[in-house]
Amino acid sequence: MTPERPPNPEYCGDLYADGRHYDLQHVGMTDDIPFYLKQARELGGPVLELACGTGRITVPLAEAGIKITGLDLTEGMLRQARARAAGKGIEIDWVLGDCRKFDLERKFKLIFFPFNSIAHLHDPESIEACFACVRKHLSDYGRFIVDIFNPRIDILIRDASQRYPVAEYPDPDGGGTVVITENNVYDAATQVNHIKWYYRVGKSGDERVAELNMRVFFPQELDALLRANGFEIEAKYGDFDESPFTSASPKQIIRVRPPA
Ligand SMILES: C[S@@+](CC[C@H](N)C(=O)[O-])C[C@H]1O[C@@H](n2cnc3c(N)ncnc32)[C@H](O)[C@@H]1O
Repeated sequence: MTPERPPNPEYCGDLYADGRHYDLQHVGMTDDIPFYLKQARELGGPVLELACGTGRITVPLAEAGIKITGLDLTEGMLRQARARAAGKGIEIDWVLGDCRKFDLERKFKLIFFPFNSIAHLHDPESIEACFACVRKHLSDYGRFIVDIFNPRIDILIRDASQRYPVAEYPDPDGGGTVVITENNVYDAATQVNHIKWYYRVGKSGDERVAELNMRVFFPQELDALLRANGFEIEAKYGDFDESPFTSASPKQIIRVRPPA
């Protein structure tokens, strides 16, 4: 019998348990890699990626000669990251850890927290603890970059009784096509969007469900949070082409520097 888990909306272990699924689902997701490579080249190494997952960004940066460390909470993602790096004969320092409490005893010229991963931090204490760790690990002239979607009200208020398409990809275990659909309920008090992903594999009709509870960061709030935690905002882009952030931007990509 599986032991019962206490309810914890930040728990994302089921979603990320098997990094092979994550990689197959995100095969086409590459537009952020040139952006982070450019930033890393400008700032120089060493670089730290928080919530590095399967090394989707970490490995191409290392391949380009950037000295990089990847930190992630989920062993299932790091397992896939190690395999990806080994397949390319690349050595990367992978750390199993929590971005809210890590001490790597070294400083970095660039720390980045990409692809909506900050949405896994729900309460003010988690966000402050993470930013404190970043400040501690950033070198004097270092930079911190965080990227997260620009919230869309129409998605937050969708009809929770409906399913919406997310992705389709081949099952890594040969079970046919994996089809993911989702629904969500947004809690305006906590700003957490409670999302469920339903995975249906092949024609079996079997379905598994994983929770993806994402803290929503509104644009002015995110800027204020960074400033309140001692960072100075240097640039805010709306996409990876470095276009300025506007109301219609899909992303919030913010580069900050530590306090002088
Ligand atoms: C959307 S994935 C991003 C992975 C990778 N950076 C990418 O761009 O493909 C989010 C990652 O955040 C990790 N994560 C969630 N909470 C975390 C925490 N508190 N500390 C470190 N990693 C965390 C998950 O394990 C998962 O790998």
